[in-house]
Amino acid sequence: MSNSESERRIVSGMRPTGKLHLGHLHGVLKNWIQLQHEYDCFFFVADFHALTTNYEDSRNIEQYSFETVIDWLAAGVNPGSCTIFLQSKVPEHTELHLLLSMITPLSWLERVPSYKDQQAKLNDKELGTYGFLGYPLLQAADILIYKAGKVPVGADQVAHIELTREIARRFNHIYGREEGFEEQAEAAIKLMGKKAAKLYRDLRRSFLEKGDSEALLKARALLEGQQNLSIGDKERLYGYLEGGGRIILTEPGPILTDVPKMPGLDGEKMSKSYDNVISLREEPSEIESKIRKMMTDPARVRLKDPGNPSNCPVYDLHRVYSPEDTKSWVRNGCTNASIGCIDCKKPLIDSINTEQQIMIERAQQFEEDPDLVHSIIQEGSEQARLVARDTLDEVKECIGISHR
Ligand code: TRP
Ligand code: SF4
Repeated sequence: MSNSESERRIVSGMRPTGKLHLGHLHGVLKNWIQLQHEYDCFFFVADFHALTTNYEDSRNIEQYSFETVIDWLAAGVNPGSCTIFLQSKVPEHTELHLLLSMITPLSWLERVPSYKDQQAKLNDKELGTYGFLGYPLLQAADILIYKAGKVPVGADQVAHIELTREIARRFNHIYGREEGFEEQAEAAIKLMGKKAAKLYRDLRRSFLEKGDSEALLKARALLEGQQNLSIGDKERLYGYLEGGGRIILTEPGPILTDVPKMPGLDGEKMSKSYDNVISLREEPSEIESKIRKMMTDPARVRLKDPGNPSNCPVYDLHRVYSPEDTKSWVRNGCTNASIGCIDCKKPLIDSINTEQQIMIERAQQFEEDPDLVHSIIQEGSEQARLVARDTLDEVKECIGISHR
């Protein structure tokens, strides 16, 4: 796969935790829905990842995975514009995970911040397991198997992308230096024709001798445009450019999007474990009663007490849902105590319900016909496997266990 194809490819996964809520919608899914039109996107339910922390309580994973996909579809993730699948239906992820585990130093995994953090946080669970330690490596395999250039993730996942880059580099370093690499690279340069070959050599020298990163970019663009080179030769020349071996696995970068603050009903971060969520596709009466009970600025006890929207979780929701004129109506009315909290919540209830209604309608056909969802998953998984298998074949060939 070429550099520019990698740059256009995105992979992201979500653990199946049951019904999704507004935090997922505005923190992750809205972003995916945007990206699916601009990139070649692979979105999957990370069901094996769920086992790394919930191996003792695995019975819900299948149901949760199914509900997760329905929520994605309801939110507008479109199987016509991206590839939707389940991690466990693409066994190439696990095979690559195994192969990568052979070259991964334990210390790299032990120093991933989430390792100790999660162990401390989930201290009611026994997480001294092999699978839990290796879970960022499984995530690396999820990404590398598609040679994705970009991964949309939250800030808490950036360390995992960094690990993924290190693993790719290490893999390429160990297995990209096939015997006769230099000779093969030199032969490939000649295939480009005199002019391009000279340009490649000049640019390579500028980069290797002077660290000229502009030259590196130009040389990559030059390779990109070469019609005469096989994929293998291109990979060699990308790697040779930087003084290394063939580039087999692509180093991805994170796409960090600003995630709006999404408070739960109690003002804490919206999360299933705090039992403070508004789920996707809730009924209007349910939404209304939840928002009516939602916590407000604690300083505003009576109607005549002025409030401060910056201390109010309801206002955080207005930031996500309301147009500017509504927000300024809230700010004024709250600070000079001319509107009550119930008035303030009304437009919010309406906007959330409008949004929910669209999702309820979109989900209807899938709830009535679960086979439709199964076939979307099946098709997506087959599509993903085609890509994953190519990478895995190449990886095994480079390692020298392909028996072909
Ligand atoms: N670890 C991610 C999370 O807990 C989920 C995930 C698994 C993922 N594999 C991935 C995200 C690959 C991006 C890419 O949220
Ligand atoms: Fe919060 Fe609105 Fe009440 Fe002000 S008026 S405290 S912003 S709910």
